Amino acid sequence: TIRCQSTSTDGPKTRNLLDNASNLLTNFLSGGSLGSMPVAEGAVSDLFGRPLFLALYDWFLEHGSVYKLAFGPKAFVVVSDPVVARHILRENAFSYDKGVLADILEPIMGKGLIPADLDTWKPRRRVIAPGFHALYLESMVKVFTSCSGRTISKFEELLEREGLQGGEAIELNLEAEFSSLALDIIGLGVFNYDFGSVTKESPIIKAVYGTLFEAEHRSTFYIPYWKFPLARWLVPRQRKFQKDLKDINDCLDGLIRNAKETRQETDVEKLQQRDYSNLKDASLLRFLVDMRGADVDDCRLRDDLMTMLIAGHETTAAVLTWAVFLLAQNPSKMKKAQSEIDTVLGQGRPTFDSLKKLDRNVELGQTVIIKYAPRFRFIRLIVVESLRLFPQPPLLIRRSLKSDSLPGGHKGKKDGYAIPAGTDIFVSVYNLHRSPYFWDKPHEFEPERFLAQRNSEGIEGWAGFDPSRSPGALYPNEIISDFAFLPFGGGPRKCVGDQFALMESTVALAMLLQKFDVELKGPPESVEQVTGATIHTKNGLWCRVKKRSDVKRSDVH
Ligand code: HEM
Repeated sequence: TIRCQSTSTDGPKTRNLLDNASNLLTNFLSGGSLGSMPVAEGAVSDLFGRPLFLALYDWFLEHGSVYKLAFGPKAFVVVSDPVVARHILRENAFSYDKGVLADILEPIMGKGLIPADLDTWKPRRRVIAPGFHALYLESMVKVFTSCSGRTISKFEELLEREGLQGGEAIELNLEAEFSSLALDIIGLGVFNYDFGSVTKESPIIKAVYGTLFEAEHRSTFYIPYWKFPLARWLVPRQRKFQKDLKDINDCLDGLIRNAKETRQETDVEKLQQRDYSNLKDASLLRFLVDMRGADVDDCRLRDDLMTMLIAGHETTAAVLTWAVFLLAQNPSKMKKAQSEIDTVLGQGRPTFDSLKKLDRNVELGQTVIIKYAPRFRFIRLIVVESLRLFPQPPLLIRRSLKSDSLPGGHKGKKDGYAIPAGTDIFVSVYNLHRSPYFWDKPHEFEPERFLAQRNSEGIEGWAGFDPSRSPGALYPNEIISDFAFLPFGGGPRKCVGDQFALMESTVALAMLLQKFDVELKGPPESVEQVTGATIHTKNGLWCRVKKRSDVKRSDVH
């Protein structure tokens, strides 16, 4: 048995010779500087049967916001503190790369942005980030509404086919439905390819799911057997993976070829001001191919497309899944959301304007107060609160490229910890988002919590919540919370698709709730969590979906 051993002063002292030897070896190999850090204790068997991030939460409460987790000779530093997270992700970001994550993802994403080493990442990020400009996002809102419309029509047809009246419900696995929806959106948004997965199955869709499944398997399997030279030919699942990968790559190569054949090279500024309303292909691929000076070999371009396909698919599907899971248990919040949707949309569809425009609320009291509140304020808060409770991914992975000195952090050692080069780190977003030190009732679904401005209560090094730090932001982010809330990471490697994903989730959720009431089919406990790159359910999110009976007809904005 390999046990994770404790050197902290509290907690049980389960030791054996093997543990001590492995820790000594780890410390020796890593320069020994982690020696004074609390070490999480528990058998590796603690990790079986439940996701790793949940075990890391228990150890966080026991050992504090920076601790070491040792698996035999392998050790990870687990960070659950905003000050330390800010240091690793932003202040000293270029002293870290993606470490274990890059090892796992490289066979799938190659040198795409997520796993890329710093030298590869820097020029590619400069090329890709401008692609997510305002007019692109505006044209994407049309993609979000038309794809969400297909999902809604599918549900309506199913209800009709079953001959069900207003009050009766169909049973659907909404996780699977959201996965199809997000796949269709990302296909169109990134390379103008319509998977059409809401309504059909195809070999390419199966290949995409096969690849995602393998990425997940690799991120949770401790021995990287796929690296053995013959594994790709001898192990059936690896053979299938190679075939899936080839099918997707062939498809992407075809799309790249097409885009290059119709290339219209121009400068970034001109691309960002194109008339998107008349553009047949508004995709990111079009932008990247047409951008002057962004020449890159097809292989690198393919890596980037594959990265965005994977990064933008499961994550958004998971946000929608958990948002519905939470709303279904809070019918009063679902009603509140529906009443907001009725007011903003009536029977209409969301538009870029309706997402961005501000509503003018006039409050009459002794004086007249005019407040400007973004539309869909409550839906937005539901989206971010879902991301707080179920961050995707729950852990960010880093490896130090050189030795570094971590700040002490909240309740930490005053002078922090020195870490040697090569230290593997998990920044636990899940722990940060549910930290009892920064959130009231951290496990409860309270979208309104983001409206309550909070100060830092004297927590050293942490500036507290302050919306004025990010004026104009439509959604709470890591800046207003000074890294206590980081659903899209932070610093230079922050998600490039954050606004895309937030608007997509807002539109999809608004359109679903505009038409339907949703409740869980079974008890919430039966919706167990499993994790790979994202948190998803064990057996699907089975819900009863029925037409809303209380739709209020109001102005269409
Ligand atoms: C990076 C979350 C949607 C593309 C990241 C990171 C997070 C994240 C936490 C940082 C990873 C790290 O620091 O290790 C999410 C969530 C999404 C979402 C929660 C949906 C709700 C998207 C979409 C796209 C996208 C829609 C593209 C269309 C990327 C890329 C990176 C990234 C390319 C790497 C950025 C870099 O290293 O420069 N995402 N993401 N993501 N995401 Fe997203």
